Amino acid sequence: MSDPHDMTFKHPNDGDNQEPFDDHHAIIKGLLDTSASIAPKYFYDPLGCRLFEVITRLPAYYPTRIESDIFLRSAPTIGKEIGEGAILIDLGAGNCEKAAGLFDVLKPQRYIAVDIASDFLDGVLKGLQERYPNLAIEGHAYDFSGGLTLPPDLPKSHRVMFYPGSSIGNFTPDDAMKFLREIRKELHLGGHLLIGVDLVKEDQILDLAYNDPLGITAAFNRNILNHINRLIGSDFDIADFNHVAFYHREEKRIEMHLEAQRDLWIQWPGGERHFRKNERIQTEYSYKYRPETFESMLKAAGFPRVKTYLDEAGWFSLFHAEAGPGFVNE
Ligand SMILES: C[S@@+](CC[C@H](N)C(=O)[O-])C[C@H]1O[C@@H](n2cnc3c(N)ncnc32)[C@H](O)[C@@H]1O
Repeated sequence: MSDPHDMTFKHPNDGDNQEPFDDHHAIIKGLLDTSASIAPKYFYDPLGCRLFEVITRLPAYYPTRIESDIFLRSAPTIGKEIGEGAILIDLGAGNCEKAAGLFDVLKPQRYIAVDIASDFLDGVLKGLQERYPNLAIEGHAYDFSGGLTLPPDLPKSHRVMFYPGSSIGNFTPDDAMKFLREIRKELHLGGHLLIGVDLVKEDQILDLAYNDPLGITAAFNRNILNHINRLIGSDFDIADFNHVAFYHREEKRIEMHLEAQRDLWIQWPGGERHFRKNERIQTEYSYKYRPETFESMLKAAGFPRVKTYLDEAGWFSLFHAEAGPGFVNE
């Protein structure tokens, strides 16, 4: 087990994770596609992380508020079912506040925060270690969309994966299934998954959540262009792009885009792309589920025991799923 006072922090290029070079090519490929896109993982430069924290406090952005109410209600039961001393693995940890809210109930032996935003995570974990001096805390900064990599010394038993905030919605349903299977594989028999999932609901509620009157979500969306400029040396001017977000009812997803306000060229070392006026760059899909659909997905991914917790209005869901038999390596 790690020394609880020795907080370790692994950066993306410390070892087996992807090279910035791969990122560079993937970003340019997305920009050059007929329907241009930028992956949502690039929202999270240090300013993007801060803007996301502000979004979670907006009245219109119900997911964080409702998810934390569900946790308050269900934590004692979940805590009893999981038991103390688990290894808590937080996927897309952000400011780690949601996981920290579980520390009193779960009393984990070790907390592993995984996030692509290395600098932000580093700062957050320093503060967290001061608040919880006796907990073994580790940060692992890498992009888990390329695969989940856990520390090689991690015991197989008593793992709990924590994936709140409906981040699973950023995957297409097929990719979400693949990711759930990957989580299941890393949990081993009897491991637990706590996952928050946003639900299908009236269009207006969803539209408002991603079009807040203060324009914070718009700033969060447009800030991705500043981050891309730093990553590939492009010359996006955020003033040229407007935030567009809407619920696509047939696809059951929020779509976020950046829409060009005029005909323009974007250039970067070695390449360029023309955008017509009103042409869009897609920056995020956020799929919404029905509780029974997501429960079936969990079962198909290898979690036969699933408990579903909902708020009264049925706007958000928390699933507590236990890894069942089915993998030959167990
Ligand atoms: C929507 S925020 C959620 C933060 C926090 N878990 C919460 O629920 O409030 C998503 C977090 O996941 C991280 N993230 C996004 N894509 C990622 C990826 N591909 N690999 C690792 N972390 C990622 C972001 O940096 C960000 O901190």
